Amino acid sequence: MLEKDIEKSLYSREEIAVKTKELGQQITKDYAGKNPLVIGILKGAIPFMADLIREMDMQLEMDFMDVSSYGEALVSSGEVKIIKDLDTNVAGRDLLIVEDIIDSGQTLKYLVELFKYRQAKSVKIVTLLDKPEGRVVDIYPDYSGFNVPNEFVVGFGLDYKENYRNLPFVGVLKPEIYETNN
Ligand code: PRP
Ligand code: MN
Ligand code: MG
Repeated sequence: MLEKDIEKSLYSREEIAVKTKELGQQITKDYAGKNPLVIGILKGAIPFMADLIREMDMQLEMDFMDVSSYGEALVSSGEVKIIKDLDTNVAGRDLLIVEDIIDSGQTLKYLVELFKYRQAKSVKIVTLLDKPEGRVVDIYPDYSGFNVPNEFVVGFGLDYKENYRNLPFVGVLKPEIYETNN
């Protein structure tokens, strides 16, 4: 039903699962003995984060933040707004921010600066997808699943007008979907 709106698949659920396991194992090694606070950025990070933490064989805590820069537009406005803040005090904590995608980099640039200001001990980023061509600010993930081409991708947390987040793989939407729905 959802798949009929997809032009092509970029990363299958199997490829994502393999990559997530690799990332989880690497992170488990790197954070040995640390009890990191794993911070999911709502809403896109949810499916990837749910899978990733189950590949992290260690003590960890979870928290969430809702920050939005896109609204319903296809291109980032550059404006970052806190919709829901963390419940946890990050001072002295090792933070691992989880994202579905880094595009312009503005969301993460803002968050990394905010968490440093709040005196986090360390701040690292793990993202399922990275779109380096979209970057307008200098920010790089510490852990990244796949580099995506400069196309509008959906699935595995990524939305078009809040839909398609539950697609179990990452794909490119058929152009007629956003041409007719605008
Ligand atoms: C998307 C995505 C990242 C951010 C990346 O979230 O999930 O959080 O944009 O874009 P950037 O690198 O250009 O800042 P969005 O704000 O659309 O909210 P959502 O996760 O609820 O879809
Ligand atoms: Mn997001
Ligand atoms: Mg979005």
